[in-house]
Amino acid sequence: MKIYHFNQVSSTNDVAKEIALLRNLQSKFLIFQEKCPAFFHEMKGERDFVVVSDEQTKGKGRMSREWLSPIGGLYFSVVTKKNPLLPLISGVSVASSLKNFGLNPVLKWPNDVMIKNKKISGVLIECFKDYCVVGIGVNINVSPLKIATSIKQETGKNISKDEVLKNILKNFEECSEENVLDEYKKLSSTIGKKVKIKTVNKVIDGKAVDVDEHGRLVLESGEKIVSGDVIHLR
Ligand code: BTN
Repeated sequence: MKIYHFNQVSSTNDVAKEIALLRNLQSKFLIFQEKCPAFFHEMKGERDFVVVSDEQTKGKGRMSREWLSPIGGLYFSVVTKKNPLLPLISGVSVASSLKNFGLNPVLKWPNDVMIKNKKISGVLIECFKDYCVVGIGVNINVSPLKIATSIKQETGKNISKDEVLKNILKNFEECSEENVLDEYKKLSSTIGKKVKIKTVNKVIDGKAVDVDEHGRLVLESGEKIVSGDVIHLR
């Protein structure tokens, strides 16, 4: 995957979306094909690409929250074609990578990566016409919030952001669509718990019993939750 690296951006998700729009536009101009075949090739090339930045000034979290993004963290977005399994693939890819760096993470639905009840990584997926931007933030050597943790805090080691990025992208690309749901369920700390879920328009109490192939949380009542914030009750 091609990687565009920046020192500072507003949000890698926003920059990735702009690059995707530009690529799309440019590949439509026939003149490019004639006059600049090499450039056209590059533009038309592999659709999947990555935008990574050392810091973000307007990092975005789920449910319109802010994602604090100081230097020392890993902030990147993968542009890829639409796929209903993306929420599962991204959570599993990050959690598996953290295992490779000696940690023991679990996934709090939908895909908050947690270590001992503290968040170490989050995923924000935004989808457009035919592609999605998968934004991933990992606390590597800094943990901007008291309620969060970082790889450094957990292992006592300074880890290279590039190594973590490479490892997550490898998992992302190699993730088996057949096994990802099972992998996700094994990592889930939400399944089996009583939960309170805040969705955009209501609060639901129930027991989480499963996650389906679209990444929806299935409650004992049969209700399937598409998105929301979960509190584990026990
Ligand atoms: C969450 O709320 O848990 C999701 C956080 C996602 C943060 C990442 S950092 C890279 C990408 N760019 C953003 O603005 N957000 C995502």
